[in-house]
Amino acid sequence: MSETLQDIAAAMMADGQGILAADESTGTIQKRFDQIGVENTEANRQAYRELLFTADEAMKNYVSGVILFDETLRQSTLDGRRFAEVIKAAGAVPGIKVDAGAKPLALFPGEKVTEGLDGLRGRLQEYYKLGARFAKWRAVIDILPAEGLPTTGAIACNAHALARYAALCQENGIVPIVEPEVIMDGPNSHHDVDTCYKVTELTLNIVFDELYAQRVDLTGMILKPNMIVPGQNGPQVSTREVAERTVECLKATVPAAVPGIAFLSGGQSDEAATEHLAIMNQIGGFPWKMTFSYGRALQQACLKAWSGKKENVPAAQAAFKHRAKMNGLAALGRWRA
Ligand code: 13P
Repeated sequence: MSETLQDIAAAMMADGQGILAADESTGTIQKRFDQIGVENTEANRQAYRELLFTADEAMKNYVSGVILFDETLRQSTLDGRRFAEVIKAAGAVPGIKVDAGAKPLALFPGEKVTEGLDGLRGRLQEYYKLGARFAKWRAVIDILPAEGLPTTGAIACNAHALARYAALCQENGIVPIVEPEVIMDGPNSHHDVDTCYKVTELTLNIVFDELYAQRVDLTGMILKPNMIVPGQNGPQVSTREVAERTVECLKATVPAAVPGIAFLSGGQSDEAATEHLAIMNQIGGFPWKMTFSYGRALQQACLKAWSGKKENVPAAQAAFKHRAKMNGLAALGRWRA
């Protein structure tokens, strides 16, 4: 019996667990490795991902799904077990980033559209055979009020692509993670929390219009939004305010049929990402489950502890487990400062 989209989404939103975003492209992992002085070779990428996926305590207890990059889905542990199998054996769902990155949008200076729809049906069918049961597509929306950005034209373009991607995923038995990220840490991020709220509200409204227009089954998808935060160079607010504004914005825009919301961390500190998620789950009163789908906020401490050295693997796995556990508690609303 094959799993339904709803079964897969429910597994991804298991109580007290969340998603490890380990889908850094070869270019993005370069930035992470540069910070710890590790060369970006295939062997080092394999070693780092093996460290994460074989961190049994973290994976079995706190991780419900792992987003992989194309290369990683095809890799194995040094003793020959395919990463997708290792992840499944730990009780988590393997997933795959399928977008081809954000590229300049023609005639919209300063704005981007995420590409990757051409040939996507065939790629999804191959990824399914390789074990992936969910996918991710990230759209990026930059805030630059002085230049009138973002424009509704660019948001609509990204929403259209997200919905076409989501429909193709569902056609092929794969749960789409729909990720429209309103960026907090761009070069000129001086905007305040109200601006983030307004842009996120507009973006989510346009995204859900497109998902409806393209017949996407909302019960078989996961939303991966940003939280409502000021730009990193803008006037800062309390963690409580971030949590309250985020819940308020999502309640105003996200239909109750969506089973789960899994946040990105987007450049927040590890602790802030945990605290925000915990407060939101303590506030409660919303129809979806809320958990994490963090990249940096789950991996920063782990990467640093590892620093490319084999003898550091146990310490790195312990650092990963600690963050995963704190976020697992936050997903239950049980984490306290
Ligand atoms: P961050 O949590 O580092 O933002 O990464 C999550 C992700 O998958 C972005 O697409």
